[in-house]
Amino acid sequence: MLFIPRSSRLFRVFSNYASVRCRCSSTATRLDTLKKKVEKGPDLKEFITGTTSPTTLDPLDIPYLPSSVKTVRKQKVYFDVYGCQMNLSDTEIVWSILKNEGFEKTEIEEEADVFLVMTCAIREGAESKIWHRLDHLRGFKRRRANSKHKDRQVKIGLLGCMAERLKEKLIEKEKSVDVVAGPDSYRDLPRLLAVTESGQTAVNVLLSLDETYADVVPVRLNQDSVTAFISIMRGCDNMCTYCIVPFTRGRERSRPVASIVDEVRHLADQGVKEVTLLGQNVNSYRDTSQHTIKEPTRIAKGFTTVYKNKQGGLRFADLLEKVSAVDPEMRIRFTAAHPKDFPDEVLQVISSRPNISKLLHLPAQSGSSAVLLRMRRGYSREAYLELVGRVREAVPGVGLSTDMICGFCGETEAQFQETLTLMELVDYHAAFLFPYSMREKTTAYRRYKDDVPEEVKKDRHNRMVELYRRKCQALNEAEIGLTHLVLVEGTVKKTGQIMGRNELYLKVVFDQTEIPSEDGGKRCMKPGDFVAVKIVAARASVLTGVPLFHSSITEFYRHISWGDRALRVDG
Ligand code: SAH
Ligand code: SF4
Ligand code: F3S
Repeated sequence: MLFIPRSSRLFRVFSNYASVRCRCSSTATRLDTLKKKVEKGPDLKEFITGTTSPTTLDPLDIPYLPSSVKTVRKQKVYFDVYGCQMNLSDTEIVWSILKNEGFEKTEIEEEADVFLVMTCAIREGAESKIWHRLDHLRGFKRRRANSKHKDRQVKIGLLGCMAERLKEKLIEKEKSVDVVAGPDSYRDLPRLLAVTESGQTAVNVLLSLDETYADVVPVRLNQDSVTAFISIMRGCDNMCTYCIVPFTRGRERSRPVASIVDEVRHLADQGVKEVTLLGQNVNSYRDTSQHTIKEPTRIAKGFTTVYKNKQGGLRFADLLEKVSAVDPEMRIRFTAAHPKDFPDEVLQVISSRPNISKLLHLPAQSGSSAVLLRMRRGYSREAYLELVGRVREAVPGVGLSTDMICGFCGETEAQFQETLTLMELVDYHAAFLFPYSMREKTTAYRRYKDDVPEEVKKDRHNRMVELYRRKCQALNEAEIGLTHLVLVEGTVKKTGQIMGRNELYLKVVFDQTEIPSEDGGKRCMKPGDFVAVKIVAARASVLTGVPLFHSSITEFYRHISWGDRALRVDG
């Protein structure tokens, strides 16, 4: 292992990107000793110590590495995942990389040798949760060091967006952290962890222009789950003025179509019934390794973009077509889609394929054109509403979901009211509502003032939530009497009832019972089954139903589309 003395120029250059650091109390003395060692270099004797003859040398038993580094292969990892679905998908990539290196996974803290915390930096609140978790892990690490198991030292690694945002500062602030790895350096994790075995800290926060982990087959954390996530792209080029993501995840890049389709097929073979394609802006997806389509991405009237339109390659509509064709009995969802990149081709694919979810995430962020301009979203309230109309026309019965921020820099009460009226007008089936949180590095941080007082943000947030709940209750009540196709996911812990999700990703609960199956018999329901369920009661966040019969996506929609489901006759 290369040790670079801290005072050298090489170290300084290196530490900007990927660094290993010594952090013992007598750093200067140790550095001196190590420097001398490096200068002297190991002699041949050190390489052959312990070997009797070359033929008895175990390839894993590398004599010049300390034994602790060699045993790193059997360590148990405990994952803590915070943030968005992208983090969940990244954790499965990390797990795949570590599993390949011989690590094991545990869900019991006491068994763990390594804690890997997949972090989020989107709002201050997200980071507070992680600091809180670190308080706990610091205590755990100290207790282990003082216990009879002190030979099994605990290592703490911070991965993901907060790691990328704070870089080395994380270790300066929280001394118990051993490894810091940004979203593009997960391949380096085995090496970073090995470095910590000799008491050093290791940092790699290098962002990449082309890393998509396309060749890493993710290992699912929950092998029994009938749903899965697939990252189809990484990074974001949009630079919304409030958002930290372009700084933590780097430039946008798409994963090749072939590797995505292969992964979908692999998941279908494992019995997965629903996949969600993930990206910060999935509809700007482009597989430029393919040169079949020459036309640039078309931006609809009333929308603008901060980056040059992409040319050539396969577009999101092409990917969606291919992915939904892998298995007509697998439900396909995707998130997040930026309103500025919603071409008609995508809408056509969605409406023509019964297995593509009919809930579209169209994050508005605000209902005020003035605020949207300051947010650099690239559309006005009017353009957004026009898009909603176009989507509703192209995909009958479509459900919409959104993200909304209140209290952004300079937002007046009147501008906030426009967000409320937009929510009234659009009838969202799901909404993720946030009070604005200023993030360093963003354009808003440099250009605007975070001038909406915290209590005003809180009050506006409460009002958004209240309106959203009221609207959802009404929307859901309108479903009573209709029949939905529900994918069974599991059971509700408290009541033992069956829980699944309908085409709009709404939670539907119902009692376990034997119902008619496709083969003419009767059987109970289990995770992975598609079941026709008649809705009999509704709350803002959950529907209650009566299961009618087992079905398949193809069979359920053989004669009737989702938009016409009210016409469906009960089985
Ligand atoms: N790429 C996705 C969003 C990813 S971040 C998209 O464009 O939809 C998820 C959500 O967090 C954003 O949609 C936004 O509503 C919210 N968000 C981002 N930065 C924020 C901030 N600084 N304060 C509050 N909410 C924020
Ligand atoms: Fe952030 Fe905007 Fe990119 Fe979404 S599209 S990740 S909100 S910069
Ligand atoms: Fe958070 Fe990073 Fe996702 S900041 S929301 S984990 S992309």
